[in-house]
Amino acid sequence: MSELHHLLTFPVRPVTEEAYLKPLASFLKSGIPATYTLEQAAAFERGDEDENDDNDKEGGSNTTPMHILARSLPEDLTEEETCAVLKMLDMLFEYGAGWSFLDYENKAVGDLLLERGQPKGGQLYQRIVEAGVSAELLLRKIDGGEVEFLDENEFDPSTNVNEPVDVVTSSETAAKITDDPDATAGDQMTYLNTKLEYTEDALVTEENRDGVMMEWEDQIMKLAADAMFPSSLESPHDAIVLNIGFGMGIIDTYIQAKGPQKHYICEAHPDVIAKMKKDGWYEKPNVVVLEGRWQDSLNKLLDEGETFFDGIYYDTFSEHYQDMLDLYDVIVGLIKPEGVFSFFNGLGADREICYDVYKKIVEIDVATYGMKCEFETIDITKILPDWKDVKRSYYNCNYYYHPRISFI
Ligand SMILES: C[S@@+](CC[C@H](N)C(=O)[O-])C[C@H]1O[C@@H](n2cnc3c(N)ncnc32)[C@H](O)[C@@H]1O
Repeated sequence: MSELHHLLTFPVRPVTEEAYLKPLASFLKSGIPATYTLEQAAAFERGDEDENDDNDKEGGSNTTPMHILARSLPEDLTEEETCAVLKMLDMLFEYGAGWSFLDYENKAVGDLLLERGQPKGGQLYQRIVEAGVSAELLLRKIDGGEVEFLDENEFDPSTNVNEPVDVVTSSETAAKITDDPDATAGDQMTYLNTKLEYTEDALVTEENRDGVMMEWEDQIMKLAADAMFPSSLESPHDAIVLNIGFGMGIIDTYIQAKGPQKHYICEAHPDVIAKMKKDGWYEKPNVVVLEGRWQDSLNKLLDEGETFFDGIYYDTFSEHYQDMLDLYDVIVGLIKPEGVFSFFNGLGADREICYDVYKKIVEIDVATYGMKCEFETIDITKILPDWKDVKRSYYNCNYYYHPRISFI
């Protein structure tokens, strides 16, 4: 075991298949698991098969062979050496290594590769993304389409499609759009029965102060509002658009400024609906408010078969990626052939590797409807909050992948 550990620290250069792949294969074939932790390794050597995963122990020395490899990766790998390392990753995955395991520093292998200077577009990082995508899609199939949450030891790339807090997605996969440790974000019915409060720069739950929407997203909302008016339109005044999730009304204010022909707003929370009434949204001549969950309102629109949209935007709270999968079914029936669908993309954004995995998953999922998703990468370093007053930040990347989905 310790020999395997030693091998993965790259004691010899150059890194060649001969020097590394053969011994790695023989260690793995001999039964050393690709997912062992140091505690498990010690137990294995003692012949104690019941040793629990060290993930259960806070502050342990939890790691896996792939983490050791990533932590020790030379920063000056040649092209040939990179190919050899890629084969090592392939082999570790083949023997069960997990793309989303976290080690003693709460790091995933993808995080470590970036820290070791591996480029995002590089073969090694992309191999981890590929493994993440395959694992997520496979687990979804195994679950029969049901998405389950990760065990808290693995992470939760939860997908925070929207706002609130953090994310999930994965492994046991999948996809909570918001991975909030609190029930309000995790469970839609709990959320809809929770009192909300508007502060100066946020919409929060009254008791726990979970952010439902925060002002820092303003620039993203502006971009999203622009995307809802596709260039195929002769004038923005011809547009019929739909926004799902009013929140602070930031995007709706940007949409109104463009003067669309019709502006539908779907909102489920009674406190938000009360605020919309108070602020005069019901009196605006081009606004149609659809009260209730989109799951109900939009299916009604679909059944009526009369309204089709140039632009649809989705940004809700306490929903999961599984909800987005359901939403795609509705979107394809409601959007015009030239229309554009976009959403607040916080999917997995609490960790770069998860954000990259979910970026690909969205592309794959919408492709099954004959749609493509184009992402624009936006630097948001200057607008990200410091999260001081928030229990757990839901967005930890310095950039934002703005999605624009349309028929091919
Ligand atoms: C993050 S906020 C939207 C922020 C908005 N984009 C803005 O610019 O202010 C999410 C909103 O979605 C609403 N919501 C949550 N689940 C919903 C559902 N299933 N159907 C409709 N609205 C929902 C919430 O009540 C909340 O007002």
